[in-house]
Amino acid sequence: MKDWSIKERREFGLHLTSIDIFKEYILLEIQEILYKYTWVDFFCGEGNLILPMLEVVPKNKRIDFFKEHIFLYDIQKEMVEKAIENAKNYGIPSHRKK
Ligand SMILES: C[S@@+](CC[C@H](N)C(=O)[O-])C[C@H]1O[C@@H](n2cnc3c(N)ncnc32)[C@H](O)[C@@H]1O
Repeated sequence: MKDWSIKERREFGLHLTSIDIFKEYILLEIQEILYKYTWVDFFCGEGNLILPMLEVVPKNKRIDFFKEHIFLYDIQKEMVEKAIENAKNYGIPSHRKK
């Protein structure tokens, strides 16, 4: 992964979300309403604020859930690539994420 300079970190607000924080404080609150909304993050970084919700979606429904309920964007190509790599770990093939 790219080694970010302090200047880049400040410029892009690069403070990545911990998956544990998402799981402990957010996922529990939204678990029951996951299918009701589209979850959008226009500053997604590695995607850790949204992608871990796939853990509570059954594996055979994840691709459809991703298609219908998740939209991620980041200005930096490197972060988009990292998010695509992370999504792959949840079973989302890369052609679904472009
Ligand atoms: C706080 S980090 C996101 C952390 C993210 N929740 C994660 O889990 O990795 C902020 C992100 O916003 C992106 N960013 C900064 N300026 C942006 C802009 N104008 N449009 C879209 N993304 C931007 C940065 O590239 C960075 O990845």
